[in-house]
Amino acid sequence: MKRIFSGVQPTGNIHIGNYLGALIQFVELQDEKDSECLYCVVDEHAITVPQDPKELRQHILDVASLYMAVGIDPKKSIVFVQSSVPAHAELGWILNCCANTGELFRMTQFKAKSQGKESVGAGLLTYPVLMAADILLYDVDVVPVGNDQKQHIELTRDLAIRVNSHYGKDTFVVPDGRFLKAGARIMALDDPTAKMSKSAKNEHSRISLLDPPSKIKKSIMRATTDSEGSVRFDIENKPGISNLMNIYSAFTGKTVQELEDEYAGRGYGDFKKDLVEVTVSALSPIQERYNAIRNSDGLIDVLREGGERADAIAKKTLKRVQDRFGLGL
Ligand code: AMP
Ligand code: TRP
Repeated sequence: MKRIFSGVQPTGNIHIGNYLGALIQFVELQDEKDSECLYCVVDEHAITVPQDPKELRQHILDVASLYMAVGIDPKKSIVFVQSSVPAHAELGWILNCCANTGELFRMTQFKAKSQGKESVGAGLLTYPVLMAADILLYDVDVVPVGNDQKQHIELTRDLAIRVNSHYGKDTFVVPDGRFLKAGARIMALDDPTAKMSKSAKNEHSRISLLDPPSKIKKSIMRATTDSEGSVRFDIENKPGISNLMNIYSAFTGKTVQELEDEYAGRGYGDFKKDLVEVTVSALSPIQERYNAIRNSDGLIDVLREGGERADAIAKKTLKRVQDRFGLGL
């Protein structure tokens, strides 16, 4: 049996980068034989930066509904909210005592998020340790994520190996990251040198999973390309069209080579028009299911039940770790 775990922060604007980098893998792995998947809405991660409490509650339900709308079935996978399992924060503390501040200051995400700020919350620095706790708590083998999480997965592995060498080699399972080829790093549509993000000011820099067709069309048609005009994959010199080709490829399964052949001698206009169609037809069934699930009465019960199932696994691991460390009675 292979254990899978991943999480998404409930911070609004879930976009096609999240979908093509991570969520698509969640569904793929759920349907693999001999896998047990846990998919978490990581609300405790969201408060590393200020959140409006009312909005946060809504965003938790939004992300949980999106999980199910893309195909995660709570009968097959455990879908739950991080804060409903206290062991995440408890193991997070224990691991904080095993991490070095130096390795946390080196995290590129911390550097990016703290850059230019006079003061940032301590949680922003220690957040990758909480992520390690999320994973190690469930004896996880595989973590499906986008490329931007590579460094955090490395830290998780380092912490697991460090603890195992001090406290016994079977204290933690050492997990592996799982990254896709085309979807692992979707870039911003208005600036293909920056990753597509939930928080960028320009709403046309991203396609959110719930965007209507008119907005999708606008965002793609005005996406930055280059003046050469040929549909050719070259990340270095043609990052804009290459990003759009990655998106096309991730949605359809066509390889970049196949796209080059198909669009040889045709301009960006044709390609973009088709990409609009591909994107709209991939997202519209997700949006239909989302609306039904988000407004259904059973949503909170599903999450509570998932929380109970996760809690039962997490409690056992936490007890094992506390025993190894000599904590408690
Ligand atoms: P977050 O929204 O930061 O919680 O990210 C949720 C998941 O989406 C993580 O697995 C990220 O690695 C992935 N992800 C976020 N942005 C992108 C992107 N631009 N391209 C590919 N994957 C992404
Ligand atoms: N740090 C991840 C992100 O920002 C979200 C996350 C938190 C996560 N805990 C996790 C992802 C555990 C995978 C496994 O995208």
